[in-house]
Amino acid sequence: MQSIEYSTETERYAVCIKGSKEIRWDIDKDVLRGREFDFSKKFLPDGISKLDQLDFLTDEERKVLSQIQGRTYANMFGFVERFIVAKILEITRNHWLGDQVALEALVRFSDEELKHQELFRRIEKMMAGGMPAGYSFPWDPNQVAAAVLKKSTWAVMALILEIELFTQEHYKQSIAPDEHLSALYKDVFLFHWKEEAYHAYLDEIEWPREDKKLAPLERERAIDELIELVGAVDGILKAQSKADVEYFVKGGRRPFSRGEVERMEVSLLRAYRWQYIFSGVENPRFNKLLGELVTPAQMDRIEKALQSLEV
Ligand SMILES: [Fe+2]
Ligand SMILES: [Fe+2]
Repeated sequence: MQSIEYSTETERYAVCIKGSKEIRWDIDKDVLRGREFDFSKKFLPDGISKLDQLDFLTDEERKVLSQIQGRTYANMFGFVERFIVAKILEITRNHWLGDQVALEALVRFSDEELKHQELFRRIEKMMAGGMPAGYSFPWDPNQVAAAVLKKSTWAVMALILEIELFTQEHYKQSIAPDEHLSALYKDVFLFHWKEEAYHAYLDEIEWPREDKKLAPLERERAIDELIELVGAVDGILKAQSKADVEYFVKGGRRPFSRGEVERMEVSLLRAYRWQYIFSGVENPRFNKLLGELVTPAQMDRIEKALQSLEV
């Protein structure tokens, strides 16, 4: 993607339309193909779940915990995509009576995210069918999206780019090379990654466009809002990591000591913070663009806020 040559902004949008048409996939025909998840295998690889650090777990326990994390991972995407679609549709307004190529690229982006949400809803039911009752993912996507969308477009676009970049990195670095994952789980993220590559490219056009509209004080406020959004994501991760450990312990075949439960809680929270926050904000493309939009003092403020999340 980075090597694509273009001379005008319209051409950048056109490249995304072309790519989107070439890789367009169907949930049933291409992704599911009548298959089920293979519960004898892991869902999320260790590179993402970070479960290799929990040395007191058996291989079987690590597999189960990777499936629980994998279920949450899919649910998190289905859930953040609610506000992504709403924001991207809102942004199309900038192009309604202007560049129709840009409009088409963003409409396709929104359409793809609606399809992704359907995919994640469907696989949640399939994963639930193979796992014990009691799993909890209590977040209402509409409520969370309504809260996120109260923040400025600048802050929300920063969060969206961060998400769409880490999606790709996770797939390329950890999911694709792992030969021991459930084949269907792996394919869900292969197909998801293909369309996300173009989304990130569009975010990289739209976020700076929004940035140009802001006065210095508005940007200052938008940075506060980005920090607030990351804090809100972290609140969700704290609760979800705890809920996932509780679900794992309840379904286990042996008791765990208080110390072991605490180690699992810390490990999952660290993994979730890496998955949804650090692997995105530390991405070189995110860092480069953010560095172009903010002052060194503002960058420092963002970095300090992120450091406060370390456990
Ligand atoms: Fe998506
Ligand atoms: Fe996306």
